[in-house]
Order: sequence, then C-alpha cells, then structure tokens
Amino acid sequence: MKSGFKYTPMLVLMCSALGCSKTTPQLDPVSDSSVPFYDLNKNGSMEPYENQSLSEKDRITDLISRMTLEEKILLVTGTGINLTNVSGSSKVPGAAGSTHAIERLGIPSITLADGPAGLRISPTRPDDANTYYATAFPIATVLSSSWDRALLTEVGKAMGEEVREYGVDVFLAPGMNLQYNPLGGRNFEYYSEDPLLSGSLAAAMVNGVESQGVGATIKHFAVNNAETSRMLLNSVVSERALREIYLRSFEIAVKEAKPWAVMSSYNKINGVYTSQDKQLLTNLLRDEWGFDGLVMTDWFGGDSARAQMKAGNDLLMPGRVHEREDIQAAIRSGDLSNEELNRNLTNILSVIFKTPTFQRYQYSNKPKLIDNAKIARTAAAEGIVLLKNEQQTLPLAASVKTIAAFGNTSYDFISGGSGSGDVNEAYTVSMVQGFESSNLKVDQELQTRYEQHIKVEKAKLPKKRYFFELLPPIPELSLDELLIKRKAMESDIAVITIGRNSGEFQDRKVEGDFALTDMELQLIQRVSSAFKKQDKKVVLILNIGNVVETASWREQVDAIVLPWQGGQEAGNAVVDVLTGKVNPSGKLPVTFPLAYADVSSSAFFPGIPESDDVVMDAYLNMPRGKITNMTHSDGIYVGYRYYEGFAKPVAYPFGYGLSYTDFAYGDPKVNAKSFIGDLTVEIAVTNTGKVTGKEVVQLYLTAPQGDLEKPLKELKGFAKTRLLAPGETDILSFVIKAEHLASFSEAKSAWIAAAGEYQIKLAASSASEGKSVRFMLAKELEVQTVQVRMQPARSVKELSRSNP
Ligand code: BGC
Repeated sequence: MKSGFKYTPMLVLMCSALGCSKTTPQLDPVSDSSVPFYDLNKNGSMEPYENQSLSEKDRITDLISRMTLEEKILLVTGTGINLTNVSGSSKVPGAAGSTHAIERLGIPSITLADGPAGLRISPTRPDDANTYYATAFPIATVLSSSWDRALLTEVGKAMGEEVREYGVDVFLAPGMNLQYNPLGGRNFEYYSEDPLLSGSLAAAMVNGVESQGVGATIKHFAVNNAETSRMLLNSVVSERALREIYLRSFEIAVKEAKPWAVMSSYNKINGVYTSQDKQLLTNLLRDEWGFDGLVMTDWFGGDSARAQMKAGNDLLMPGRVHEREDIQAAIRSGDLSNEELNRNLTNILSVIFKTPTFQRYQYSNKPKLIDNAKIARTAAAEGIVLLKNEQQTLPLAASVKTIAAFGNTSYDFISGGSGSGDVNEAYTVSMVQGFESSNLKVDQELQTRYEQHIKVEKAKLPKKRYFFELLPPIPELSLDELLIKRKAMESDIAVITIGRNSGEFQDRKVEGDFALTDMELQLIQRVSSAFKKQDKKVVLILNIGNVVETASWREQVDAIVLPWQGGQEAGNAVVDVLTGKVNPSGKLPVTFPLAYADVSSSAFFPGIPESDDVVMDAYLNMPRGKITNMTHSDGIYVGYRYYEGFAKPVAYPFGYGLSYTDFAYGDPKVNAKSFIGDLTVEIAVTNTGKVTGKEVVQLYLTAPQGDLEKPLKELKGFAKTRLLAPGETDILSFVIKAEHLASFSEAKSAWIAAAGEYQIKLAASSASEGKSVRFMLAKELEVQTVQVRMQPARSVKELSRSNP
C-alpha cells in the first residue's frame, strides 16, 4: 500500500432506538497522516474528496473534477427498472430504484424504495430461504386522522429503521399532495385536504425517518391530484391558489424538516412539466424556500431529459438510455452547460455522502418487525375516527358476547391501497381475527359462509396483468332475509364492514365506489331492520382509503367507525376501539360531503381531455392516457374552505370525530390584544366525562377582508392533549405568526396581512363553535415579498364568494 496509509473506516453510523449518530473514525495508528480518510478509489493515497477534514463542498468539487462525462451522465440517471419483477435494484429486490456506482472512484450505488405506508420491497428472493417482509403501517390518512405530530415521528422512526436494516438509503415517502377530490386514486397515500395539516405532519414524518440515518423524499411536487392520464395532465392553477393551497404543504415540510429529497410530479403546472420547471424546482424550491437536498423525477416522468437537467431536477428515475443520450447531446451542443450538470451532481453526491451505504453501514436484514407491529397497532387505533355513536352503542357493553359480522371485508380487511404505496407485509389481522383474540365470539355460520364466498369469488378474478393493476372488488355475499333474521335473534350485535381499495393510475368512480353499491345498501338495510326488531344494535365499519357517501344510509345504523385502512394490525386496532380499550381520538383530515356534486371540483375532476386520442408511451409500450387539462377554477376554495364559504352542508365536517368521553374548553388566553410579533394563545381542556381520553384542539383563524377575499376560516394550528383521566386538565398552547395572517397578493407579489380584527377559534372541528378570542392588526403588514412568479399564461376565472 502506498504512502503507508491503511484503510480507515470513514464515518460510522451508530444506531439505537433513539436514532443514529455519527462517530468520528479512529485514526490509523500506522498512518503518517493526521487526517481521517477512506481510500475510496483504492490507490493508497488520499485525494481531497477522500479527506474528511475538508468541507463536503470541497470534497464534492474535487470528486466531480475527477469524473468523466460518461460517469457524470450515469450518476444523474438511475440504473433502470425491471418491469417484469418491478425491481429497480439488484441489491434489494423490489426496491424501486438505484443510482449507478462509479467504482473507479469508489462511489457506491444507493438504493431508493417506496413508500408512504411502509417499506415496499419483495418479501422473498429466488434461491433464498429468508423472508424480507416489511411492516404495513396504517395508510397516511389514518396517520393524519390522529392529528398527532409525535405519533407520525414515531411511525417515521419505525419505517426508517426498516429502510436502513434492509439496506435501503432513501425512502420514497411521505406522499403529501392534497386530498383534493374524494375520487383521487392515491388519496390514501396523502394526509389531508388542508395544507397546514399535510405539511406539519409530513415534516413530523420526515424527522422520524431521517433520525434513522436514511433519507426521506417528499412527493409528488406538486399539484399531482389526479391519477387519470397523470403523465399528460396539465393542472392550470392561479398563483394565489398555488401558493396558499397546493405549494404551502410542501413549503412547510421543506422549511420545518429539511428533507434529503423531493420528488417532482408527473403532471404539468400551467403548461410545464414540474420536472422541467426551473421556476418551481430552482427559483422557488431552492432559492425562495432554501431547499438544499436532491430533486428526483417520478418514475418515467417528463419528456425531456435535458430540460429536466436544466430545471434542477437532479436525478432522473428510474433512468433510461435515451435520457443519457439526450443529456450527452445537450452537453455537446452547449444547450446544457457543465455548470448545470455539475450543480445536479453536487446535489446527488451530497445525499450519497450521507447514506448508510456510503458510510459502510452493516445492515442486518432483520428489522424489529415485532416492535414495529406494536407501533403499527397503536398508530392504527390513534387514527380511528368515530363518526356516529347513538345511545352509547360503543364501547361494546360487557353483555355483548356474540357478534354477527357481515360484509366481505369483515373477514378480509384491506390493510392499505395498491401500487407503489402498497407494502408486502407478512399478515393482515382482519376484524374478525381481532374479535377472536379479544375473546368475543364471532358467529360461525356467517364466518363459514363468508370465507367460502371470498375464496370462490377471488378464484374467479383474472390474473393481474401488471403490478399496478387493481383487480375489481368481489361482490357482496347476498344473504337471504331469513338467515339475517335468525342471526339477529342469535347474536348480541351486528357489525357490517364496507371496504374500498384504490391505487395508482386510476381515480375512483362515483357509482359503486364513492357511492355504495346496491348490494351494500341492501345489506345495511336488511341487517339494520332485522337487528332493530330484536332491539339490537348495528355498528358499521368503514375500511376505506378515502371518502365515501354516507348520508343516504347512515340513519339506519347505530354507530359508524372509520378506521380507514389501518395496516397489518388494523383488525386488532378496530377491536381495541370497539371494546373501549382505546378511546377514539381521531378527527377527520378531510370533509365527508353530503353528495359528490357538492365537491368544489366535481364538475371538472379529473380534468377535461383535449381529444379522445390515447397517447402511447414510446418507451414503456403502454397507454399513457389522454392529453388533459384541469383548470382549478375553485381557486383557494378547496375542502372546508369551499363547503363553508359556499354554505354547502356536509355529512361530516373537517376536523370532526367523537370520543367516549366529553371535554370542556376553558376561555382561551392570548398574550396580547394587538399583533406586533408572534402571539401565544393558551387553552385549558378538561375531561368532563367518565373515561380517559385525548382531545384534538384545532385553531382556526378568520381574517378581516382586506383587498383580498378570504376564506371564512383557515386552520392555522392544532394540538392534542395528553391522555386525560376524568377530571384532568391539560393546557395547550399555540403560536400565531405573521405568516398565518397573510394571504398571497398576485398584484403585489407578496404575502399581505390585512389590517383589522382577527378572530381565533379553538374548536373540536371546523364546524363546532368552540371558544373564540380576538386580536387586532393595526396596520396592513407586508409579510414577505417574492421574486418568483408562478402564473398561468391566461388568468383563471375563479370562484368568488362575492360572485358565486
Ligand atoms: C409513483 C411514485 C413512486 C415511484 C417508484 C411511481 O409510479 O408515482 O410515488 O415512488 O413510482 O415506485
């Protein structure tokens, strides 16, 4: 070995339950250098990029100066994906992608894997007796229903631990587009219709994942709200709506959590593919918001590699030959400069330097699956929303011993959605299994009938043609009225489960998906009337990924429980809530409208195709869909901002959820009557009921109408009490900052807070009265001016409360 150096391990990742820390390597005693280094290129001497006493910037600059153009182009494009086994990694089969190794320089390949409900990798490998199951955590919508930042961080830690221990470096989660329309096929991967809730919870998740020494990726940046023709969709949105609604959640997550990576989306915004939009990816994301990580494309997104490179979309995934050719030609012609390419490489390399793989972390392939299943169960229970509970149907009385379980999904729980947001878990606990393990007796005759029906109907389903394909649901078992009557006599209570699944590439339909099918409605009707006649109760469980219609049938049942899709432990979590072991404290992160027609985007979702021509993907040889435009003429009036602003009554409002106990709110205290800097608001919340519970308090702000029209109220903060025993009180505190007061003025290119009186409402839901307190802003405040303009070519005619 030259110059007397031995290999010295570089930064070593030390990980414990608390997270990871980096230890400084021991100097090699025989080394004649006082500088720690790792001989990456194995030439026996220390080049600047191997010298850990130099700054990362200097090391990366040196490294890039040693790379050939070919190596550079390889590093900005991933290694590709095998579409037969849907794997983008030879190291971790089933992972979505990986980067090229530059072996000559000792730069390893790093591995990237999905997704929002837990790590998605193949559970088995050829010629390998080991299994590689990951924990199916509850879907994002369950997590957001907890309104609990600490819980999301804890789940993030557990997910990050699996990511690291299975040898993956960058996690392709959290997903954080808005749940814009109930039909959105990937809503289950997202948090909320509200940007503040989405952004704050995504930040908490990123912090948890990254505490494990691996990267998180916030996706899909931005306005990726429909799946139909998702790669050909042009989302036309005003700058105000972009900044206040669609970009706001990403801005919060970037500023609060500094994620390692951002994934650009498939769609265009105002005519430009997001992955090719320099305004979005460089001027706004980096220069205005201060993002300093890596931007990657969504898989196969965009249509010009050189435009992506120029825009600051650093890494093209999964990586294809023609992209490399295009980048090479662009460099030759001078269309793409070396500086642009090197800038992108710098962003990629600074992430690579941080990864476990680069740091030679010895992963175990043995994550803590048993501990993580417990976290999944707790999280699933924390996110359950109790929508209805007449005459204290729940928790189940001690006299309830036998349960008649109806509905296919009672026996075949859906743990999460399909596509890249799916997880290959070892098992899913169904609701019926949950009952069994808590010693409640499930009616055997029904169980046998349903299990046989499910087996027979599933056998009839066609084979999946491709990974993303979502097979149709099997029909409900048709039960005759006599049988139902007999069950009403024999059992103590009925539980009916309605299930829904959805996933990538397609949005849901109104008929038979948002709306219940005739068979489902008939089942609810028959069971309810038979049990009512016996003076027995009916509980309805919604095992769904996103919003369904409830108004037409909800009167028939006594209680409605919304566990969404709660991951592999969902059945246990549901039974924990039904039996009262856990008092539900979940609140809706999305409104349940009365009818689909009441949704602000119902008239134009998922966009209007320019023609009927189906565009084929030349490289994937599959249809991409139709060239489509979706003009967001609802502007800032999305979700509760719309329903409230336009007086649309809803089935269940944003933020709503019942508990088995009651809470009393004290009078809120604000530390100043006039806004001159940050304001602090405090409220005492007391458990006035009979059982222990937690309460989520939501802070809504109503701003004075200045030059800009304002929603009636907007969520600006939220907090959850600790577990309160009857009689106990917790004090929650909130901070109101200038940015919370401001709306975006396109005319002034600035965030402006109007002068006047502001009302703070602290409440149990967007629609409940809560407790209010007011403060004044003496003079209009220009909170921030911006340089970046994000306007559509033609101005969008938007909804207005003054001109509905
Ligand atoms: C999805 C992404 C995912 C990627 C890799 C795409 O189809 O849109 O969310 O991370 O695939 O699996």
